[in-house]
Amino acid sequence: GRVGVLYGGSSAEREVSLMSGEGVHSALRSAGVDAHLFDTGTHSLQALIEAGFDRVFIALHGRYGEDGTVQGLLELMGVPYTGSGVLASSLAMDKIMTKQIWIKAGLPTPGYAVVCHEDELEAAGREVGYPLMVKPPHEGSTLGITKVNDESELLAAYRLAARFDDEVLLEAFVQGRELTVPVLGKGREVRALPAIEIIAPGGNYDYEHKYVSNDTRYECPAPVEKKTTVELIRLAEQAYTALGCEGWGRADFMLDAQGQPWLLEMNTSPGMTSHSLVPMGAKAAGMSYADLCLAILDTASC
Ligand code: DAL
Ligand code: MG
Repeated sequence: GRVGVLYGGSSAEREVSLMSGEGVHSALRSAGVDAHLFDTGTHSLQALIEAGFDRVFIALHGRYGEDGTVQGLLELMGVPYTGSGVLASSLAMDKIMTKQIWIKAGLPTPGYAVVCHEDELEAAGREVGYPLMVKPPHEGSTLGITKVNDESELLAAYRLAARFDDEVLLEAFVQGRELTVPVLGKGREVRALPAIEIIAPGGNYDYEHKYVSNDTRYECPAPVEKKTTVELIRLAEQAYTALGCEGWGRADFMLDAQGQPWLLEMNTSPGMTSHSLVPMGAKAAGMSYADLCLAILDTASC
């Protein structure tokens, strides 16, 4: 049948999604799938309904794509789609809700506070402790995120994050190594792919070092102790299951100096660009980019 690759969209991660969608589309076409690109940022919902796709591969990132909204529309249309359903998508798009669920499930995630007004800021900063990360809770690709070393830097960081979201997350900074673990499947079939270590210049894996420059190094499988590998896989799978994720996802971690992994967030529609991480994990497991796209497409359901 006809497969729609939804990409682009209108979120702050539009440019990233254009790259992800093009990669997925050409891989699927090379594998003989009747795939068609569909930009939800430039086409109407009516056009999506009229496109008559039998299945959809969601290669959108961020709001109106990764957050449950497009998933809800496809549910109403009765069109099977890749990845998590409405609830898991919206939970994972919200870094605060994600933390609450992980804490309830006994999973390790850094301490935090939520700030909605500037007058709450200093108290929240003291509560979390410095250094800390200031994040808009509903963004991806590190947009709007600042590392704050002391109180003097807090207000500017808050104002930047508040441009993206009404509430702002202050999260304890974990000094250590940055790792990520892709996860595929659902229910009892959930399986993590090899972990990837990200080594960005100056420890700064920001938007520029994710998609633009070529000076970030990646090690896959991540060169960590055997027991850390086992722990990363266990935590990634539990973090994914706790949120009710399906299809595919990617759990981001910091590994502290004592070897303890800390869960930062779950991505339910991770990047599929040439620089992206899930394809690296798949490759280390013997799965090509095209095989990965086909495996994800296979999970499309309503
Ligand atoms: N938010 C980006 C696309 C990622 O997680 O890969
Ligand atoms: Mg993210």
